[in-house]
Amino acid sequence: MAPVQIDTLDAIAIVTIDNPPVNALSNAVRVGLLEAMDAAERDPAVGAVVIRGAGKNFIAGADIREFDQGLRPPHTPQVVARIEAMDKPVVAAIHGHALGGGLEIALGCHGRVAASGASVGFPEVRLGLIPGASGTQRLPRLVGVEAALDLMIAGRPVDAAQAHDSGIVDAVVRADELLDAAIDYARSLCASDAAPRRIRDLPITTVAADFFVEYRNKIAARTRGQLAPDCIVRSVENALTMSFDDAVIAERELFTRCMVSPQSKALRHAFFAERKVTKPPQLAIDAEPLAISRVAIVGAGTMGAGIAQSCLAAGLDVMLQDLSEQQLEGAREKMARINEAAIERGRMDSAAGSRLLAKLRTTTDLGEVASVDLVIEAVYENLDLKREIFAGLDKNCSPKTLLATNTSTLDVDAIAAATQRPEDVFGLHFFSPAHVMRLIEIVRTASCSPVTVAAGVAFARKLGKLGVVVGNAHGFVGNRMFHGYGREAQALLLEGAAPEQIDRALVDWGMAMGPHAVGDLAGLDVGYKIRSERRDAPDDPSYFRIADVLAEAGRYGQKTGLGMYRYAPGSREPQPDPEVAQIIVREAEALGIERRNISNDEIVERCIYALIVEGARVLEAGIASRASDIDVIWLNGYGFPRHRGGPMYYADSIGLDRVHSTVCRLEGKFGARYWRVPRVLEDLAERGGRFEDLADA
Ligand code: 3HC
Repeated sequence: MAPVQIDTLDAIAIVTIDNPPVNALSNAVRVGLLEAMDAAERDPAVGAVVIRGAGKNFIAGADIREFDQGLRPPHTPQVVARIEAMDKPVVAAIHGHALGGGLEIALGCHGRVAASGASVGFPEVRLGLIPGASGTQRLPRLVGVEAALDLMIAGRPVDAAQAHDSGIVDAVVRADELLDAAIDYARSLCASDAAPRRIRDLPITTVAADFFVEYRNKIAARTRGQLAPDCIVRSVENALTMSFDDAVIAERELFTRCMVSPQSKALRHAFFAERKVTKPPQLAIDAEPLAISRVAIVGAGTMGAGIAQSCLAAGLDVMLQDLSEQQLEGAREKMARINEAAIERGRMDSAAGSRLLAKLRTTTDLGEVASVDLVIEAVYENLDLKREIFAGLDKNCSPKTLLATNTSTLDVDAIAAATQRPEDVFGLHFFSPAHVMRLIEIVRTASCSPVTVAAGVAFARKLGKLGVVVGNAHGFVGNRMFHGYGREAQALLLEGAAPEQIDRALVDWGMAMGPHAVGDLAGLDVGYKIRSERRDAPDDPSYFRIADVLAEAGRYGQKTGLGMYRYAPGSREPQPDPEVAQIIVREAEALGIERRNISNDEIVERCIYALIVEGARVLEAGIASRASDIDVIWLNGYGFPRHRGGPMYYADSIGLDRVHSTVCRLEGKFGARYWRVPRVLEDLAERGGRFEDLADA
């Protein structure tokens, strides 16, 4: 069926875009819309036009897949201009999402009616783009310069009510009344003597002379290193200084510049990687996941409380179990604080906060969790304790109950082996804080069934999180790679770089936080304990030496006010500590390491290449199914800069032949213990391949 259909109903041409799954503005849709406008203009029986989408959305924006193939005309600005130039009134009937080019089409219309559940916005910036079909010119005319900039720079859609308040849509109606309301509105425009309202003709309100300087300052920190936000501001500036037509041409140039930029390519990769990750290759196609609606969490510590909060927010029935009443009370208080913070930020009203907490059931009796669909164990990291808990759960729980552990490093197979139902046991590695972080590593063991994995994937989706299926290996994917990254950050200390230099170099490169600040935040005692229980730790006295010495001295990081940095009481701001500088010099001397000046480039190279090398080993060992899954983990769990696409995409974008020669150089300089070139990298470099090309494991 043609992706754009036209039906005439009592003098109204109803143009329906039907391009599943999201009504993206593909070339065929753009052609179809132009043809539909021509047909409606020509047809004397048509008095007005309504444009609507079939399925779940109005239009989700440009077809992002076309950006890599080179866009073929007609382009969206031409379609928007054609709609706006119509002599017969055109009304957009918006339901679901009207995003990016979809909203631009709607802004080309002479009126907009939205269904109450609809959302509209310009998410282009998240793909490293600017609205490229006159959105940067029309939106400021409609809602004012600052409001338009805010919407485009945030990239977050607004709901129908907010869109109505700001003037983006003219009316909000019930979803089942949308078409009738849009037709009525089109008829009323038809009946009016006034010419159709064209946004291009609206005056644009002027701003203060220093407005754009101040606006750039305001967004500088959160848009650090990104090309698109500055291009958006520039294009809106053009709206005040150029004619409409010239500014639209300039906008398209900026859009094209962004579209071909490495940043946008990386962000588009991230977009598709996050969708692909929800379809892991291990899932049996017909595996029907068990529906999970009742969850029990064993262990009411920080992780347990955060997981309980996530489950409650997703509308699940939640039981929190702990042997200590005091821990349970503490968890309740933590969750109340989380709700208060959400209320303060306007993300929740106080009634919803109270309702959420009222739904939480707590118990000290492990027997009470017997009949739930899923138990998530979240006690502290101790294999014997976890095995004991799982043996008890196995005995008490219904045969239908799935059992998951929230361990971040321990052997999930060994935990599963404590039960008589290893096929029902898996890992759910939440990241801290669990109610905030979007990532979950779903750990499949050697014996867990595809149905169990499918249930884990469906559960993550229900929580609104990104579940990535990974294999069972020490540290799974994320933490295993973090060991390589952290190892280099530690080695660099002994060789001559200060913690603050290392952190600054990596933050300047784009990481959300430096590795030493992360260590202090997570607690240096946590890493210390994990390393001390590791049986395959390398025989290397310099391995995480400084972190170990600090942990042994009780310097655990933020929680003790002293760690790799020092912290003023009540502050989370890391301050360089001369005492740590002395410890580093002393330890380097004891190890016979000669200290030298280290450049920021070397810091970035060693830390990021350590990640790439570990990522290659993870792929080789089949712990991650695909390179893009690793990228999703690092983008969502470790603050890797999204505009670099993730460590494996970043390696691919450098070119694996170059990556290979750099790793060879690092191996020559620092030895094969850590820098041995992974076979998969060697093979791919030899045949000009990319990590992305590897078949799913
Ligand atoms: N182009 C191509 N494919 C798209 C797409 C798009 N704009 N949006 C979504 N898809 C695909 C997804 O890749 C996925 O494909 P798959 O089934 O093969 O994995 C499928 O559609 C369904 O997508 P989701 O799983 O994301 O579906 P949801 O229902 O969860 O979310 C959505 C729907 C909110 C529309 C979400 O898909 C989304 O945010 N899409 C991107 C919107 C966007 O960024 N638009 C701006 C594009 S740039 C632009 O318009 C430039 C213009 O200014 C010229």
